[in-house]
Amino acid sequence: MADLADLTLNDGHTLPAIGFGTYPLDDAQARDAVVSAAEVGYRLVDSAVNYGNEAGVGAGARDTGIREQLVVTTKVPGRDHGYDETLRSLDGSLQRLGLDRVDLYLIHWPNPSVDRYVDTWRAMVAARDAGKVRSIGVSNFTEAHLRRLADETGVLPAVNQVEMHPYFAQARLRAFHDEHGIVTEAWSPLGRRSDLLDNDVLAGLARDKGVSVTRLVLAWHRALGSVPLPKAASREHQAENLDVAGIELTDDEVAAISALERGRIGGDPDHHEEM
Ligand SMILES: NC(=O)c1ccc[n+]([C@@H]2O[C@H](COP(=O)([O-])OP(=O)(O)OC[C@H]3O[C@@H](n4cnc5c(N)ncnc54)[C@H](OP(=O)(O)O)[C@@H]3O)[C@@H](O)[C@H]2O)c1
Repeated sequence: MADLADLTLNDGHTLPAIGFGTYPLDDAQARDAVVSAAEVGYRLVDSAVNYGNEAGVGAGARDTGIREQLVVTTKVPGRDHGYDETLRSLDGSLQRLGLDRVDLYLIHWPNPSVDRYVDTWRAMVAARDAGKVRSIGVSNFTEAHLRRLADETGVLPAVNQVEMHPYFAQARLRAFHDEHGIVTEAWSPLGRRSDLLDNDVLAGLARDKGVSVTRLVLAWHRALGSVPLPKAASREHQAENLDVAGIELTDDEVAAISALERGRIGGDPDHHEEM
């Protein structure tokens, strides 16, 4: 299996080109899945306080024996927004993970009606400067939310983890990310909760190229520069999803996949509240 080159973040650290999603695995499932995912080659793992599996993810990361090679991600939930609350939330995450550092720490949702994501962000900058966190970013932020962070703190996130798949390609937000050196991570990269993997256009393209629909979709993510975080319970799917380095898509193929646009499946960050 060929390797995909890491991406360089705006803070100088690197990020693997594909990560491993862990929602909705529980602690025991997450521990085993992280060990298995690391064995097949994943070096980026996604978690969140609200997934309730940080203990399992952390145990898995430690049990791999290559913890220092892994980028372990977790996210501060809406109920912990605010400066002091975020620092306390981070300490709780570190304790559950059983690690002395979070490699990528994200604000899970902006929760604009609460309007405390800027203070939350200031705390994340402080946590990074104190060495408790390596890289900091956000999730589900719109261009307006990102601009506000830049205007009020002068610090842009290294990563914005957003819903992205061929039904919701995020063209405008990705253009903004590219202009400002923010890496796009893609959640639900395989379009969970939709019929994406059964789509006829994708099936036809995949057949023509001699690859599975999932590998085609993940190659589309890589062609657009996003870092997909597919979740897969079985080792077989985990390995399949990482095996995309050799799949070259033409511009026409990328455009044909992006033309499947239908809109988001998940919550709208301007209105979705997740505590
Ligand atoms: N920041 C956020 O707000 C947010 C929101 C949602 C998700 N996320 C993150 O993003 C990760 C991925 O998103 P997701 O779990 O919603 O959806 P996803 O990765 O798009 O889809 C997961 C589904 O695809 C199936 N699958 C995976 N590989 C496959 C393969 N090779 N062939 C056939 N089916 C395959 C999985 O089944 P099996 O498990 O049976 O293989 C599972 O049912 C989450 O786990 C989480 O870490 C973040």
